[in-house]
Amino acid sequence: MRTSTARAPAKINLSLGVGSIRPDGYHPLATVYQAVGLCDEVRAGEVADDSVSVRVHSDADQGEELTDVPVGIDNIAVRAALLLREAAGIDDGVALSIRKSIPVSGGMAGGSADAAGALVACDDLWGLHTPKSELERIAAQLGSDVPFCLAGGNAIGSGRGEVISPVLARGSYQWVFALAHEGMSTAKVYAEYDRLVEGTNVAEPEVDDELMAALRAGDAAALGAALSNDLQDAAIFQRPELAETLAIGEECGALGAQLSGSGPTAMFLASDEQHAMDIAVALASAQVAADVVQATGPVVGARLV
Ligand code: C5P
Repeated sequence: MRTSTARAPAKINLSLGVGSIRPDGYHPLATVYQAVGLCDEVRAGEVADDSVSVRVHSDADQGEELTDVPVGIDNIAVRAALLLREAAGIDDGVALSIRKSIPVSGGMAGGSADAAGALVACDDLWGLHTPKSELERIAAQLGSDVPFCLAGGNAIGSGRGEVISPVLARGSYQWVFALAHEGMSTAKVYAEYDRLVEGTNVAEPEVDDELMAALRAGDAAALGAALSNDLQDAAIFQRPELAETLAIGEECGALGAQLSGSGPTAMFLASDEQHAMDIAVALASAQVAADVVQATGPVVGARLV
């Protein structure tokens, strides 16, 4: 059986500025994304008919099959394969197999990474050579974070997050992530945000100059001080114990500590590898997380392996 395999990275939002809800139900964003080296692997296998299927395994636990990810048409990687073949005017099938390291519903674009990986893997399996601009168009249809998972690196996201422009930046950053036992619904966190800002005047979101200057300079301490996330209060309102998780990283001298996207994953910026290890050990011994992982960023977007 012929196969093509892609790796796709998780994203974090170094800053996440959120505006007032739009008529289409989405929120205007001014965000700075960074792709980090926590990746899902998407394998596209040839099939004899026109069926599109998916199996999802965890990277740990001897590849145990995951039950909290949908496997039918609701699976975003399946939708990616269907949209790509429709755009190409073909009816080839594919058996997708996903090995997940990115937490499910963790605020790190795990589903979006799988969609980006599926686009890259299926494009190769089916020999399509789809132009980059066309892949980006399909990615934007699949979800707000999918274009960034294709691109990787550091980028500014506007629109609902799907309009991205690369950021020239220096440096490689050491991150520690505290993964929660249970995911959170992005839509519910945005709804909580709407409740919290109701009756207030929400400004148009803008990217912070200090954060951009820190990235251009490769200055980890300045970057840590400039991190921000407008969804954090809403996520902590729904999951108050996340405040304790963030406090543990802060006590260890993390250069920055906040939730990733809509949470519940907490992200901590370390000054070097030893410091990252110290933060990871403190989080693990406080038993506030289901798992603690370390990764560096930025990394490239979805790529064939
Ligand atoms: O685009 P995506 O499917 O990833 O978005 C998931 C949900 O998150 C949306 O249905 C919406 O409720 C919320 N969302 C939002 N504003 C954004 C991005 C996502 O309200 N900019």
